[in-house]
Amino acid sequence: MLRDTYNRPLRDLRISVTDRCNYRCTYCMPFDEYTWIDRREILTFEEISRLATLFVGLGVEKVRLTGGEPLLRKNVDRLVAELSSIKGLREICLTTNGELLAEQIETLAAAGLRRINVSIDTLDPQKFRRMTRRGDLDRVLRGLFAAKMLGLGPLKINAVIERGVNDDDIIPLVEFSREHGFAMRFIEYMDVGNSNNWVSERMVSGKEMIERINARFPLRSRGRVDGTAPAVDYEFLDGGGDIGVIASVTEPFCGGCNRARLTADGKLVTCLFSDSGHDLKSLLRSGAGDDQILEFLRSVWWRRDDRYSEQRLEALNSPEGYQPHHHRKIEMITLGG
Ligand SMILES: C[S@@+](CC[C@H](N)C(=O)[O-])C[C@H]1O[C@@H](n2cnc3c(N)ncnc32)[C@H](O)[C@@H]1O
Ligand code: SF4
Repeated sequence: MLRDTYNRPLRDLRISVTDRCNYRCTYCMPFDEYTWIDRREILTFEEISRLATLFVGLGVEKVRLTGGEPLLRKNVDRLVAELSSIKGLREICLTTNGELLAEQIETLAAAGLRRINVSIDTLDPQKFRRMTRRGDLDRVLRGLFAAKMLGLGPLKINAVIERGVNDDDIIPLVEFSREHGFAMRFIEYMDVGNSNNWVSERMVSGKEMIERINARFPLRSRGRVDGTAPAVDYEFLDGGGDIGVIASVTEPFCGGCNRARLTADGKLVTCLFSDSGHDLKSLLRSGAGDDQILEFLRSVWWRRDDRYSEQRLEALNSPEGYQPHHHRKIEMITLGG
């Protein structure tokens, strides 16, 4: 079986279908303009599906479509349908800001999509607007409830928590998700990309989030799904559902990381904090056969030795501290969150 330097298998593929976004979340994409990927460089659905099929042959069981904002990619439901027909692929998931979900949910569901994460950091419409700089909370909620009405699930809500910005939204988000049967995923604010001005003081640790929630709604830990999922899951003792916490800064999970990322322009990236990727698009477009591409994928994964979040924690705990700007990273919109 394919294993990397630290004996980690390849199980999970995150595909960025576009680097464009209709929001400008302050923690992700704070500027108005970026150097966008040229449209001719963006992988076609056929190219993505071919690669996904090869990845499944190497052990991938789950694909997540992300971006940028994946629902900005025209006819993304067609990609979902193509991926749905890949034998051996157990799950197709989507992470979206939800702005365009209400109008696309029926076609997406018809194409076979069942699992959706919608990013909602606050239930206060004005604050939502401030945090996303362009978002309309009402539209997002309409999309979320439309998905629920169609019976899709599990429906998860991702919330990035920033101290002094939306840490007072933790409990309202928990109440909302308990009331409506959604599963919250609280995410520690991370130093992704190079432009979000991350400082550790603005991060609320997973431990603190759990303590705050537990004080109001007692919880029991269930650990990580398969021992490798980014989220540690907790269930409410009163049977009111479950939540997850993704604490990649304070409790890194590099040791179990089985995720690869495919950028919209066809680069294979082996860590969320990588500074570069491996060019698959040129290989595809030069007419390479499946065997040649498989050999390339294997050789990249064999050599994979990323453990960035563990190294960051070591640096954070060292006398010199951690300097996010000393390491240039690919922007999250490019490599897919
Ligand atoms: C990059 S987005 C792409 C998909 C889609 N546009 C969305 O927002 O859901 C994927 C996830 O990454 C999260 N994210 C973005 N920047 C982050 C940061 N600095 N720290 C932690 N999570 C972040 C977002 O909140 C979102 O849940
Ligand atoms: S988090 Fe998602 S919605 Fe927000 S700017 Fe990044 S890609 Fe866009």
